[in-house]
Amino acid sequence: MSKKSQKFEGDPNTTGHEWDGIEEFDNPMPRWWLWTFYATIIWGVLYTIAYPAWPLINGATAGVLGWSTRADVAAEITAVEEANAPINAKLEAADLTAIAEDPELGSYAVSAGSAVFKTWCAQCHGSGAAGAKGYPNLLDDDWLWGGSVEDIHTTVSHGIRNEDSDEARYSEMPAFGRDELLEKEEISQVVNYVMSLSGEPQDASKVEAGSVVFADNCASCHMEDGTGDRAQGAPNLADAIWLYGGDYATLTETVSNSRYGVMPAWNTRLTEAEIRAVSSYVHQLGGGE
Ligand code: HEC
Ligand code: HEC
Repeated sequence: MSKKSQKFEGDPNTTGHEWDGIEEFDNPMPRWWLWTFYATIIWGVLYTIAYPAWPLINGATAGVLGWSTRADVAAEITAVEEANAPINAKLEAADLTAIAEDPELGSYAVSAGSAVFKTWCAQCHGSGAAGAKGYPNLLDDDWLWGGSVEDIHTTVSHGIRNEDSDEARYSEMPAFGRDELLEKEEISQVVNYVMSLSGEPQDASKVEAGSVVFADNCASCHMEDGTGDRAQGAPNLADAIWLYGGDYATLTETVSNSRYGVMPAWNTRLTEAEIRAVSSYVHQLGGGE
């Protein structure tokens, strides 16, 4: 049995729903709330029409305004490129040696070059350019191929012993052991001689014989006194700075099997302005000539 519920003065109307004597008041939402709610729905619909929104199988609806983060980034890059175009043109036109002398151009080249270096060179030469085994240190004044800004520019443009560029720097040290050009004993002698050029040989009794092996087989590239030849990228063996290592075992490995350090050409990947910038950056690191 249901009994009529009591109604008090000021009570809102009921919705007419009633259960076991419990009735539901009809309390409408405040107008301002309702309108705000409708407005957010309309906003939401318009937004999904205007901007990229609904996921599709490949991608999403593009939105009638055509806005995209990608386009934003592209526009920013274009803006920066446009802003830098005049100074990049100046960089490309300048004499390589004159870049460092022009304060504005020089400091632009070094900071742009440092960014290029971190992106393209650091993985091999180290973020501080100190190099690693087989990857030369670019901070010192010990150069394989030359440390003038022109030399560096040529090395970076064409690379070293690569297949990308016909003008890549090229030379090849013979594999004296693998190709049986020298006996094991002769290799041991010449390695001891090489060690004597910069410090203590492992076995001093072999040095003299080693000097003869050196004069006959090595001096044509590394020079009589072992100081190397930049025209052939043959390292200085007398300065105690090693690309691969100066201990007996590493030297024996180098002489027996030779080395073949490869660096890519950059003129196919970087603009001339970027190559000039990174060459200026490397040149001012400490060992530039
Ligand atoms: C894939 C590894 C690699 C990358 C990347 C690389 N290099 Fe090299 N780079 C080498 C190697 C290996 C050598 C030494 C080759 C040899 O034995 O003659 C070298 C040599 C050089 C030399 C010659 C040093 C000398 O003593 O004459 C310069 C200068 C140089 N790199 C600059 C750069 C710059 C600038 C970049 C970035 C645009 C770069 N390298 C990127 C591997 C790399
Ligand atoms: C045809 C020229 C040529 C001849 C001949 C030659 N070398 Fe080399 N040598 C090179 C070049 C070029 C390199 C650098 C290779 C590289 O970086 O990939 C090199 C590298 C080396 C290195 C490595 C140096 C370092 O810093 O780690 C040693 C050691 C060396 N040569 C010793 C010798 C000895 C000893 C002989 C004679 C038995 C000899 N070379 C004959 C061209 C030559």
